[in-house]
Amino acid sequence: MQDKLQALREEALTKINEADDLKALEAVRVGYLGKKGPITEVLRGMGKLSAEERPVVGELANTVRAAITEALEAKKQVFEEEALNEQLKAEAIDVTLPGRPVTLGGPHLLTSIVTEIEDLFIGMGFEVKEGPEVETDYYNFEALNLPKDHPARDMQDSFYVTEELLMRTHTSPVQARTMGEYKGNKPVKMICPGKVYRRDTDDATHSHQFTQVEGLYVDKNVRMSDLKGVLNQFAKQFFGEEREIRLRPSFFPFTEPSVEMDISCKVCHGKGCSVCKQTGWIEILGGGMVHPDVLKMAGYDPEIYSGFAFGMGPERIAMLKYGVDDIRHFYTNDQRFLAQYHQA
Ligand code: PHE
Repeated sequence: MQDKLQALREEALTKINEADDLKALEAVRVGYLGKKGPITEVLRGMGKLSAEERPVVGELANTVRAAITEALEAKKQVFEEEALNEQLKAEAIDVTLPGRPVTLGGPHLLTSIVTEIEDLFIGMGFEVKEGPEVETDYYNFEALNLPKDHPARDMQDSFYVTEELLMRTHTSPVQARTMGEYKGNKPVKMICPGKVYRRDTDDATHSHQFTQVEGLYVDKNVRMSDLKGVLNQFAKQFFGEEREIRLRPSFFPFTEPSVEMDISCKVCHGKGCSVCKQTGWIEILGGGMVHPDVLKMAGYDPEIYSGFAFGMGPERIAMLKYGVDDIRHFYTNDQRFLAQYHQA
């Protein structure tokens, strides 16, 4: 019986040695240590042994069982380690490979320009207002001293939605809306950025949709020199201290007198070059003193209140500031163009 046990141990150990996966190993375990296995059988037959033999065989059976269990465990660990190593190898990360670049977005150039303009006017005490892009004929034209059939309506070809509704052609209706909101008895000092629409054919300098920033200051004793002072401050802060401004007489139905403002050309500093078409100056906005009729229609007494207004085009301003040569760049959304103006 002892020989049999020794033989079983040798056999089992050889099989364990030969096992080449966990499944084979489990078969050996069941085969030798299982309930129906030979060792269990030996232990079960112990009753038939003599009193002297019994402890000796019992101990040996236990040792054999322990040896087989230990060998099984050891081999199992080897398999597990191998499996782990293989998994690690398969999942290995090559830290020397170059990383994938993370592309960061940024505000659109026009958004940045408008924000910059807003910040500048907020710094001078203006509040920022908004108005609807689908506007009534009344606010877009009539409240701005442009009654039906007024020839100056032709200055701005419009997209009509119905007889009385149109896509606003400028941000000036927000002048009338804000004065209406303030009910004729409070000063108004606001700017209004926003999209506007005109029936134009798109080319390098025209777009059927573009942006404007309107400005309006109504109070007692607001004078033309205030307009000039505010715009001068804007031009120098925005374009640089060395830039000069000049006001030229112009016409808008809602301002009287009306002006157009030029800034000195940054390329030639007023001497004349191809950028400023040899004039030394570049036009950047329109403005003037709010027409008394416009004040009156909005509920302000022109005998007590006066004001100035202006309207500028952020596209044009961005084009001048950054040398952009085609207004369509703002709307075709070519990443190569836009990414140049993302600030880190
Ligand atoms: N609304 C005018 C335009 O679109 C600009 C302007 C605004 C002129 C305010 C005078 C005062 O051309």
